[in-house]
Amino acid sequence: MDLVSLIQQRVSCPVVEEPGPSASQLDAMFRAALRAPDHGNLKPWRFLVVEGEARAKLGELFLQAALAKDPALVPPLQEKMRNMPLRAPTLVVVIARLQQHPKVPLVEQQVAAGAAAQNILLAAHGLGLGAMWRTGDMAYNPDVMRGLGLAENEEIIGFVYLGSRPAKTRNAPALDPADFVEQWRG
Ligand SMILES: Cc1cc2nc3c(=O)[nH]c(=O)nc-3n(C[C@H](O)[C@H](O)[C@H](O)COP(=O)(O)O)c2cc1C
Repeated sequence: MDLVSLIQQRVSCPVVEEPGPSASQLDAMFRAALRAPDHGNLKPWRFLVVEGEARAKLGELFLQAALAKDPALVPPLQEKMRNMPLRAPTLVVVIARLQQHPKVPLVEQQVAAGAAAQNILLAAHGLGLGAMWRTGDMAYNPDVMRGLGLAENEEIIGFVYLGSRPAKTRNAPALDPADFVEQWRG
């Protein structure tokens, strides 16, 4: 399938299966991520791969962060926090590395890291894998950021959940560009 058709048909996969991406598939996805547009060539991104047992450690980090915020968190929600990273065989944490720059505002660096995340989704789709970009409270929680080793100038852009695509996935919704696009004629 050609690239444009492939992009037009990309959908997120909330449910993905084992096995996760192979090392060479991950490499291909990161090569795609590194081709995101990047004002000033700052490379304002880095990535963490969380697989196997490390997902349970991330779940524990989520749980402790949630309990620090709300010590009365009810057990079912505690369980939910702990199990979040287990929803996929592989997670990629997309991190924006922000720096003060005379010509490149922080928002452009965040957008560039977001474009890198999107390139991961597109590459995953092209490889026949399932993927979903998630954030939620945990992406902005200082304890989680510290636990993942983020520096003061870094932010989590998203957790990309990756795995094999289930046999049944939904089709891309039919959207009409006319609802979003108009000519500006001055
Ligand atoms: C920055 C960002 C954060 C997101 N966070 C979540 C999330 O935490 N949970 C969720 O269900 N969807 C989240 N989404 C949306 C999904 O990734 C997905 O785009 C949405 O379910 C629509 O599916 P589609 O991509 O197939 O159109 C997020 C999307 C973006 C761009």
